[in-house]
Order: sequence, then structure tokens, then C-alpha cells
Amino acid sequence: MDAGYEAATTARKRLHVITWGCQMNVYDSGRMADVLAPLGYAPVSEPDGADMVILNTCHIRDKAAEKVFSELGRLRRMKEEGGGKMILAVAGCVAQAEGAEILARAPYVDIVLGPQTYHRLPEMVARAARAGGAVIETDFPAEDKFDFLPDAAAPQGITAFLTIQEGCDKFCSFCVVPYTRGAEQSRSAATVLAEAKRLVAQGAREISLLGQNVNAWHGTEGWGLGRLLRAMAEIPGLKRIRYTTSHPRDMDDDLIAAHRDLPTLMPFLHLPVQSGSDRILAAMNRKHTADHFRDIARRLREARPDIALSSDFIVGHPGETEADFEATMQLVRDVTFPMAYSFKYSPRPGTPAAGAPMQVPEAEKDRRLQTLQALLREQQAAFNASRVGMTFPVLFTGPGRHPGQIAGRSPWLQPVHAMGPTDLIGTEQIVKIAAAHPNSLGGELVDHPSQERRSA
Ligand code: SAH
Ligand code: SF4
Ligand code: F3S
Repeated sequence: MDAGYEAATTARKRLHVITWGCQMNVYDSGRMADVLAPLGYAPVSEPDGADMVILNTCHIRDKAAEKVFSELGRLRRMKEEGGGKMILAVAGCVAQAEGAEILARAPYVDIVLGPQTYHRLPEMVARAARAGGAVIETDFPAEDKFDFLPDAAAPQGITAFLTIQEGCDKFCSFCVVPYTRGAEQSRSAATVLAEAKRLVAQGAREISLLGQNVNAWHGTEGWGLGRLLRAMAEIPGLKRIRYTTSHPRDMDDDLIAAHRDLPTLMPFLHLPVQSGSDRILAAMNRKHTADHFRDIARRLREARPDIALSSDFIVGHPGETEADFEATMQLVRDVTFPMAYSFKYSPRPGTPAAGAPMQVPEAEKDRRLQTLQALLREQQAAFNASRVGMTFPVLFTGPGRHPGQIAGRSPWLQPVHAMGPTDLIGTEQIVKIAAAHPNSLGGELVDHPSQERRSA
């Protein structure tokens, strides 16, 4: 980074970042704060009175752009109330896809930047201040931003995200990601492992490796994700490893074997399938069949019998008939998903499916979504209920909602609360589960009964 930026850093400036979209955006927001820290920007929790606001946007579904413009309207009023000094930046996938339109419709925006240009933010802030006009960067630069981003300044906490792969070459018919994030790119194993060790030194006990197609990661060393996970498992102090989001086509044998071999690789995998109909899977350009997915699920369960699968589903993709939808329902019944996300197909500008014939009527999409979600809710409730009476480690991450309670996550990502002292936050403790709620579990500490702690 240019030393000139660092010189002008004495005054503390307030930075507010609004994050929409996926975990990768959450990670990116943190890195944007890191890259601005040397300029004197420190994060604040409210946009009111901030010196700079970054709106980190998502383009995946629905009226993404409209949502951005309505939020920008609100921020514009704050900017005006502060005499126009607030620097307003729009980042993320809407910025990438519709940057020029943002500047045309919201000329009070100072900076528009796509996800691959965050390392250039300090320079853009300087240019915006000098020029007094808007600055836009939405090209995919030749350099890799990760080579230019500083090490994380603020610790992420007990659970941390680490982006290892970005972009997508798969071009599913419905999806904007290949256009907003660009081509698939892997960070080297060496930089990933170094960052993981830093996160653990800063207090992380769980790391989730992130990527739009995280299991297509191959490093720059020709490794596969399985090998990276084995190396991660060697890091002292790291209790839990997860990775998301995977594509069924990239679930190779070594990755499945890693689930068998590594106790710290959590028994929970988000593996989007989208549909259970081979016809629709082909129309979606997913390049796998429903039976291929069933086979992966079976092999994962052989490798790690307690593994729970989560998935994404789209109902109402163009051409989806009642029989296709029924095939999705059947796949859900066959595989069972303790957790899942399901969406109505939403036509995205510039994607092949948006212009396809046989769009499904909105009312029909609604009906299918409700039918599917009822089944998924049932499966989630059954899974949560099946944990009652079980004893397993919970990683405690903070205080619970009620006095004396602490809260954390099960190996399967369910929120768990128990009575216990706050000094257990940041540690894994054995909990016996006593109750299941729709979205969480309640239990008792086994090794640290709260009574004993109190009288000690
Ligand atoms: N890379 C991941 C997920 C990307 S986006 C994968 O390959 O599956 C997250 C989820 O949003 C997708 O899995 C999909 O279910 C949903 N999604 C993406 N585009 C969509 C669209 N146009 N309409 C509805 N849902 C969509
Ligand atoms: Fe989108 Fe498909 Fe790529 Fe996932 S694999 S990011 S759904 S194009
Ligand atoms: Fe949204 Fe971009 Fe993530 S479109 S889901 S923020 S990759």
C-alpha cells in the first residue's frame, strides 16, 4: 500500500458497512474494513454520522437493484443532513452488474466497486476526495486482490470465515454469480494455511472455508480440497472446520474420505441440488442427475454416518412441470435434509433462463414453494427432535438470551443454549440435549454442571 495513505491517518474516521447476501460478502465486508483501517477508518454500528458508508450488495434474487436504490435513498438523506461529507460506496454483486446504472440514478454515490477490486479501495477513496466526482471500478483486474489485501486487522471472533476460492465457471441457467464474481479462482494453499493460523492465533476455534464453488478449489499447488482440509486439521487449537458452498460435480473421492478421516471436519455439509428432476437439472445446466446426488449422499453417509446434509432448492424454473416438482419432493423424501433453503425461481437479467419459454406462473411457484417448505420443515423438526437425549460437544460463542445462559452451535450448526458460566465461551463443552425447539436446542453441561460452578 502507498505510504501516502498511511500518513494521513491520524484522525479517527467512522466507517459503517451494510452487508447483504452470502457469507462471502460478510467476509469481504471485513476485508474492506481492514483495507481502510490504515486510513484511520474504524467500524461503527450505525450509518448516522458516519464519515463513510459502504453498501455491500447481493444480486442473486428478486428485486435486488430496487432494494439497493431504496436503501441509497435513505443514506442520501443522512449524507445531506451531514452537509454532504459522507463518502457513499456501493460494493458487491449489484455494483458489479449494474454499476453504471447506479451512478446514473444515484449521482450522490461517490464510489462503485465490484468484488474483485476491494484492494483498490484506499486509492479510490483518495480519488473520490480529490475529484469530487464519482469513481467506478468494475473491471476484473489482472492482479489477484488477495495479494494486495492486508492481513486482517480486527479479529473475527470464535467462529471465522476464510475465503479460499471465488468466482464460478459453471453457468447454471438461472444464476448471476459467474457474471458478478467472474471466473473461478483459487488462493494458494500456503496463503490459506497462513491466514487460518492467524485466525486461530486471534481466537478462532472454528473456521469455515468459503467459496462460490469451494470444492472446486485446487490451490495453485494442484491440491484438492480434501488435502487442504487434512492440512487444516493439523493446526493446533482449531477445533472445528467447515466449508461452503459445494457443487455436487466437485465432490471427489478424497474429499469424501476426508469426512471419514477428520474428526474436526464437522458432520454437516451444505450441498445444493436445486431440483430432483433430471429434465430440469439438464435445463439448469447443472451437469449432474438426481441419482448422482443420491449416490453422493449415500457415500458421504458411509464415510461419516452422523453427517447431516443441507441443500438449496429452486421451484418454478422455466419448464418445470408438476411431475418435475414431484421428483424434487421425492428426492427430499429419499435423502432427507435437516436444514435447507428453498426459493422461487427469480428471472435474473442477462441469464439464459430469464429469456426461456415456459415461465411458471407466480401463483404456481408460490404453491410449490409452500408444499416443499412444509416437507423441509417437517424434516428439520424431526432432526432436531432426534437430538434430544444425545450428548455431544457444543462450541460456545456467546451469552444466551436469558440470564446465566450461554449459547453456541452443535456439530450440525443448530443453535444450542445451556446454563453455564461465561468463561466457557470460546470452548467446546459436552452438552446433554434436553429439549428441541423449531430452530434451536436446549441442554445441560455434562462436565460443568451449573450448580457446582455456582457453589465453587
Ligand atoms: N454456488 C452455489 C450457490 C450460489 S447462490 C451453488 O452452486 O449451488 C445460492 C442459491 O441461490 C443457489 O443455490 C440457488 O438455489 C439460489 N438461486 C440462485 N439464483 C437464483 C435465481 N435466479 N432464482 C432463485 N434462486 C436462485
Ligand atoms: Fe451459480 Fe451454478 Fe455457479 Fe452455483 S454453480 S454459483 S448456482 S452458476
Ligand atoms: Fe449475492 Fe453475490 Fe453472494 S449475488 S449470494 S453476494 S456472490
